[in-house]
Amino acid sequence: MKDIERKISELLARMTLDQKIGQIVQPERQFISPEEVKKYHVGSVLSGGGSVPGDNKPEDWIKMNDEYWAASMEEDENHLAIPIIYGVDAIHGNTNVIGSVVFPHNIGLGAADDPDLLERIASVTAKEIAATGVEWTFAPTLAVARNDHWGRTYESYSESPEIVTKYAPRFVKGLQGNYEEDKVIACIKHYIGDGATLHGIDQGDMCITEEELRKIHLPPYKAAIDAGALTVMVSLSSWFGEKCHGHKYLLTDVLKNELGFAGFVISDWDGIDYLDDSYEECAVKALNAGIDMFMITGKWKEFITHVKTNVANGRIPLERLDDAVRRILRVKFEFGMFTKPRPAARKLSLDTSCFGSQEHRAVAREAVRKSLVMLKNEDDILPLSKDARLLVAGKNAHNRGHQCGGFTVAWQGVDDFAESTEKAYIMSDSEKEEPRKTKVKNSAPHRSSIVGGTSIWEGIRAVAPNAELSVDGSGADPDKHEVAIVCIGEVPYAEMLGDVRVEGLAKGLKISKGSTTDDTLSDDDIPVVKKGPYGTHLYLHELHPEDIETIKKITSKGIPVVAVMICGRPLVINRELEESKAFVVAWFPGSEGQGVADVLFGDYDFQGKLSFSWPRYDDENWNVGDNDYNPLFPYGFGLKYKT
Ligand code: BGC
Repeated sequence: MKDIERKISELLARMTLDQKIGQIVQPERQFISPEEVKKYHVGSVLSGGGSVPGDNKPEDWIKMNDEYWAASMEEDENHLAIPIIYGVDAIHGNTNVIGSVVFPHNIGLGAADDPDLLERIASVTAKEIAATGVEWTFAPTLAVARNDHWGRTYESYSESPEIVTKYAPRFVKGLQGNYEEDKVIACIKHYIGDGATLHGIDQGDMCITEEELRKIHLPPYKAAIDAGALTVMVSLSSWFGEKCHGHKYLLTDVLKNELGFAGFVISDWDGIDYLDDSYEECAVKALNAGIDMFMITGKWKEFITHVKTNVANGRIPLERLDDAVRRILRVKFEFGMFTKPRPAARKLSLDTSCFGSQEHRAVAREAVRKSLVMLKNEDDILPLSKDARLLVAGKNAHNRGHQCGGFTVAWQGVDDFAESTEKAYIMSDSEKEEPRKTKVKNSAPHRSSIVGGTSIWEGIRAVAPNAELSVDGSGADPDKHEVAIVCIGEVPYAEMLGDVRVEGLAKGLKISKGSTTDDTLSDDDIPVVKKGPYGTHLYLHELHPEDIETIKKITSKGIPVVAVMICGRPLVINRELEESKAFVVAWFPGSEGQGVADVLFGDYDFQGKLSFSWPRYDDENWNVGDNDYNPLFPYGFGLKYKT
């Protein structure tokens, strides 16, 4: 440790002001070339969700990062060799990249309540990131989601800090290990209270006491930091109206001084923009509040100018800038970036065979099995016999894109059945000047972009030879089918576009600059991106009326239904539950749909238990421990075959 501190001091002493400022900047890849990385001494580059190089194969990523890295490592009279680190959202596998294994989203992993499995998942994820020549992921999300209306509920392991706190150090350990060549840097996010906002509004306002903040939302961070998490991302939300990105008490006093966090703090996607009308003020406030690295899309050069001016005039103390740079260099030294070979020459880049491998898929399949939660099993209709004459129906039965959810290949996820526009989204010049997050993040759907794995239907078909598929249920025939499996539920979404907001909150509400519900998207936007929030209530029959229709089409013919629901949060399902003999929650299970068949046919028992309380009505918002707690299914509920 001492040795590292000495090396940092020596390097820092050689750095010019420009080199220091460049080190704290992280532009998005669409906005920066390798030449600019060198010219501006940039410390890091990222890919936003769905922002991908070339044909989006591991070799395209290796090539891209190799070029950025090489530029950062050139040494001459104007430039010091300091390796950049490249950051990606590998939040359920390295899922920006086509062909990666896709794990269940965190809500399903919370239901599995299996810390050993979680650590193995993190290890596999680290390998699949390292196999693309990348060294840093913005994961794990440590949100304790307290309101199911929030569009990011599925990124949360649980509504209770217990599971999140137990999981946090294990995921960090699985990703970072002892910094071996198949490990990557972790980034715990979004600090703090992203899951605590009023009405579950993404990037909204957290109105809770400090006592509650410390009791519910802080413990996972403490556990992850104690386990050595090297980086922390700030939440785009506010605490009683004050944005976390400018919150010196939370960032410096609590995170750095009290919890002893010695790594660096990164801002979220253009997150400092919301601190003031003047961008210069935004930069000053955020740096002085304690942010060390700045994730910026279009305005990164402007940011550099403002920091330079304000260090010169003393509004940003040089010691603060030095501290930020010192923290970034500390992470780079600790993780061994200065001695790592270039991305193209790293062990896993030279042999990418682990990427999307069967061995990795087996871990994901196990996770699917363990995450399923059975809510109902009347007359022990489950497990099903593999010889049964089965009908398989529902829009989510044979759609790997749907079952993977958001943050898979594209920011908003993909629809494997969609009429594809293969073209990637290309920004016009004016958009480049004033980029909007929803546009910059590439949401274009790709046909069959989930390569590898199985849909739920494919998993069933593999073991039950008499099964037939009829997505809308119209093929249901009591002479041919004894029982039907109907795969219902949500379709992919991410971030604010997944919010469920009651009327009045749905339109025109300024959450923060640039992320209002309606005006982020224009009519010519990519078709898969829905305008505004996901819906107005948590009722499944309102959000997706086609589901109850499909179920009824089948039950009206006297065929009993086993419902399997794909979802990122508990939904109000009273009607669908009533109409089905058995009901299984599969969350967003990811690419290995076979794991569902493993359990439905009884090769494995159910293990999953709700890590979120299940509501009877839209406006209940139960969380375990509440006074008069009375949900439809309590936290911890989950049926098994063997009682
Ligand atoms: C999200 C982060 C993500 C970042 C980079 C932001 O919009 O809030 O979770 O890591 O984008 O894609």
